[in-house]
Order: sequence, then C-alpha cells, then structure tokens
Amino acid sequence: MNQHEQRRAPLANGMPMLGLGTWQNDDPEACAAAVETALEAGYRHIDTAQAYGNEESVGRGIERADVDREDVFLATKVWIDNLAYDDVLSTTQESLDKLGVDAVDLLYVHWPSRSYDPEGTFRAFDELVDAGKVDRIGISNFLPEQVDEAIERADAPIFANQVEMHPLLRQEELREHCADRDVELVAYSPLARGEVFDVPELTEIAEKHDASEAQVSLAWLREKGVTAIPKASSEAHILDNWRSLDLELDDDDVAAIDAIDRTDRQIDPSFAPW
Ligand SMILES: NC(=O)c1ccc[n+]([C@@H]2O[C@H](COP(=O)([O-])OP(=O)(O)OC[C@H]3O[C@@H](n4cnc5c(N)ncnc54)[C@H](OP(=O)(O)O)[C@@H]3O)[C@@H](O)[C@H]2O)c1
Repeated sequence: MNQHEQRRAPLANGMPMLGLGTWQNDDPEACAAAVETALEAGYRHIDTAQAYGNEESVGRGIERADVDREDVFLATKVWIDNLAYDDVLSTTQESLDKLGVDAVDLLYVHWPSRSYDPEGTFRAFDELVDAGKVDRIGISNFLPEQVDEAIERADAPIFANQVEMHPLLRQEELREHCADRDVELVAYSPLARGEVFDVPELTEIAEKHDASEAQVSLAWLREKGVTAIPKASSEAHILDNWRSLDLELDDDDVAAIDAIDRTDRQIDPSFAPW
C-alpha cells in the first residue's frame, strides 16, 4: 500500500486524533522501531516527553520512516524540574537536539507542579513560539481552574490539555470546560493501561462489532471529539489500535459506555494537582 492509499486519522484543529504514545518504551531499538512501524502504518502523531528518556529514539524512528518530517505531528513535554523560565528554554533546545528537529508541533507543560510558575513558564513557552521552535503550546494534567490561569498567562493560545481519559475515567466536566475554551483534549492512557480488557460492558460491545476492547475505547474517545495516544510496542498492537479508525460505535454503544458504573484512575503521583 503506498502512502496515498493509506487511511488517515481525522484532524482536531490540525492535530491527528490518533497518535502513538511512547512512555516506558525505553529500549532504544524497540522505541525507534515502534515509531517507524506506526508511521509506516499511517500514524502521523507521536507523543513523547523529556521524562521518558526516549526522545533520541523517537527522532531516530521518524528519521527511519518513509514519511516527511513536516507530515508528522510531534509532541514533547517539559518535565516538572525544568519549568523555570531559563530551564524551559535550555531543556527544550536539548529536546529538539535529541529529536533531531528544528521545531516541535506541540510542547506541553507536563504537570503543573514543582518548578511550574505560570508567569515564567509561559513567558518561556511564548518565546519558543516566537522563535519558531514550538508551533503550539499545550498543558497536561491541568484542572479546570489551572486551564483558565494558563489561558490568562500565555500570549499564544493553549492548544490542548493532555489528561488521563478512557471509559473508566470519562472527564465529563473537564471536557466541557476545555471545549468551551477551544482547548483540545488529548487522552493519555486511553486503554486504561490495559484495564479496558477487563470491563464486561466493553467486551460485549467489542464482540458485537468483532473488534477489540482497545478499539472500542479508542472509537469512544473519537466519538467524544477527543484525541487518543495509545502506547503500543508490538506491530500487532500498533495495527490493532490503528484499525479503531474503522470502528463506528452506535448510540447504544456510547450510552452503555457512558453508564459504566466504575471509576479507575491509573496515574496518580504525589505531585498531581487533584
Ligand atoms: N501527560 C502525562 O502525564 C501522561 C501520563 C501517562 C501517559 N502519557 C502518554 O500517553 C501514552 C499512553 O498511555 P499509557 O502508556 O499510560 O497507557 P495505554 O496506552 O492506556 O496502555 C498501554 C498498554 O496497553 C498495551 N496495548 C496497547 N495496545 C494494545 C492492544 N491493541 N491490545 C492489547 N494491549 C495493548 C501496551 O502493550 P505493548 O506496549 O506491549 O504494546 C501497554 O502495555 C503514554 O505512552 C504517553 O505517551 C502521558
């Protein structure tokens, strides 16, 4: 299949709504191979972070794939120890060097924690935008009131808030809050780190459509207008998740998922704002 025949993810304000997550894909060769495989399969959105320790491998995967750099939506995140003004500037340059790119499409504040200082942090993010090293500003793990503070502080628009979201953590309030402010939601841990395979309601819908629970979760997120970045290492998982683009849930499916009576947050470090 050549690139022109390949399926493409729908776009949310220019951002492909299905991307590849890379957290804990820290074996250099495995990470580069996963990125290359995903891009060759049709993915055009790759998510990494300073804290994942794999920006060089992600860059190598992009370099190896038969895809032009400008066709890839590349996102990284500034870690919570690097959010003081000077450190944002210096460590983002390090990220660009490791990734082997002149600019990233999206640069997130990874968490509103530790050295995060809305004034200095966003002054540096704005300067990076002005310098052409960052196309858009993102935030991650921000609560509604913190989203508003970020919008207030940054000159550039806040493009996206990346938070945990899946059928066991539906984020209804935050989703509405962000939608009202034109801030895209990006769902991390969209497979609830594997928990989606253990939810009878999802298994029932998966069987009905001859799909996997992973595909059901990803199709539900798309239905909600939310971008998802499942992490997958094997080609089988990368392709299984990609095929979620072919799955259309019906209203009954969505209602059944919206009614699941179980909440399960996977990511809850001591420095979380909640
Ligand atoms: N901003 C933040 O603070 C934050 C926090 C957490 C995550 N993230 C981002 O979000 C990405 C995704 O979240 P996550 O890694 O926590 O969890 P996830 O994507 O919900 O789940 C990943 C797990 O599911 C497995 N998997 C993937 N596709 C599968 C499939 N089709 N069938 C069966 N198993 C499958 C993976 O296995 P294999 O690896 O073996 O394929 C891996 O063990 C991260 O990689 C990272 O980029 C951001």
